[in-house]
Amino acid sequence: MSAFPPLQNDLILRAARCEPTERTPIWIMRQAGRYLPEYRALRAEDEFFTVVRTPELAAEVTLQPLERFPLDAAIIFSDILVVPQVLGLEVEMVKGKGPHFPDPLNTPDDLRALREPDVAADLGYVLEALTLTRHRLAGRVPLIGFCGAPWTLMAYMVEGGGSKTFQKSKAWLFRYPEASHQLLQRITDVLIKYLNAQITAGAQLVQVFDSWAGLLGPVAFETFCLPYLQQIATGVAAVHPEVPKIVFAKGAHYALEALGQSGYEVVGLDWTMDPRQARQQIGPGVALQGNLDPCVLYAEPASIRSEVQKMLDAFGPTGHIANLGHGMHPTHDPEHARVFIEAVQTLSTS
Ligand code: CP3
Repeated sequence: MSAFPPLQNDLILRAARCEPTERTPIWIMRQAGRYLPEYRALRAEDEFFTVVRTPELAAEVTLQPLERFPLDAAIIFSDILVVPQVLGLEVEMVKGKGPHFPDPLNTPDDLRALREPDVAADLGYVLEALTLTRHRLAGRVPLIGFCGAPWTLMAYMVEGGGSKTFQKSKAWLFRYPEASHQLLQRITDVLIKYLNAQITAGAQLVQVFDSWAGLLGPVAFETFCLPYLQQIATGVAAVHPEVPKIVFAKGAHYALEALGQSGYEVVGLDWTMDPRQARQQIGPGVALQGNLDPCVLYAEPASIRSEVQKMLDAFGPTGHIANLGHGMHPTHDPEHARVFIEAVQTLSTS
């Protein structure tokens, strides 16, 4: 395909580099999804992973929130669990329950059965979806690529699905530390290739989701998360130094200072983290993303606006990408997402 159209709105890219911006940019985790009636209509026709694997459908869903709202970025419609799939594990999306692995990793012996994926071929559908979406965006806003962090992916691969405590996967870290490191390294090697391929295919910013970081204590985080997150930052920067990287380690309060020095341009905060304190811990030169409590979107518009004002005051005008502290919920009213987006954009305009 031909060269990509020139970018008209680079607010997020500038905020990620802590450069001054006319206003605070915003995108929302899970901005495409079940809270949108147009997504539910499309999903009524096709399975979740069918949508993910069909570039035409993935591009359409990626653009759905952009057609409705004046967002400052698009995020490719996919899932972090496509990587466990290419490593050879089966993943089903069970209605009302979430992901399910019929045959998860039980003991270190199971590592031998993992496949050595060919990222360009096995995840070619994500790369095609990125290229197609980037063309369809026509330069309106940047396109975000993403992956799950090694620990979060390992947690699903061992646990076999969602869990409050992830006891089985945490048990692996302490019972089989060597095998855990082997697994985390194999995942990391794939993720570096995958993110670099996403950027080549059209992603202009990438985010690593460590959704289950907060289940670990500071020592386990330093041992089993941080080194791999750093390797990913280094491995992507070596090939695509111009592309900003966001790390979102949900719940990892104790790791904010280390995350600020881990090679990512942006550190994402969940809603339990205090932006002022995070700025102090992380220091200048690293941008922050977040962190409105998703439940604020259940409130009336006037309350949403006053919470947004508090959030903007706490982060300050530079080096901030506004977002929720986690994703949209299926029960959110799309019109309240609009109030959030417009409040950020009008209240932050200098
Ligand atoms: O709009 C976007 O943010 C892009 C799309 C996106 C999805 N998943 C689509 C999705 C992204 C960035 C993800 C990341 C993801 N997937 C994470 C990290 C972010 C987080 O929430 O912490 C995780 C942990 C997963 C794994 C996953 N996928 C779970 C736990 C679930 C079920 C929970 C749920 O919300 O139902 C999914 C399914 C999923 N991924 C859906 C969507 C829109 C809903 C499935 C459906 O349509 O039936």
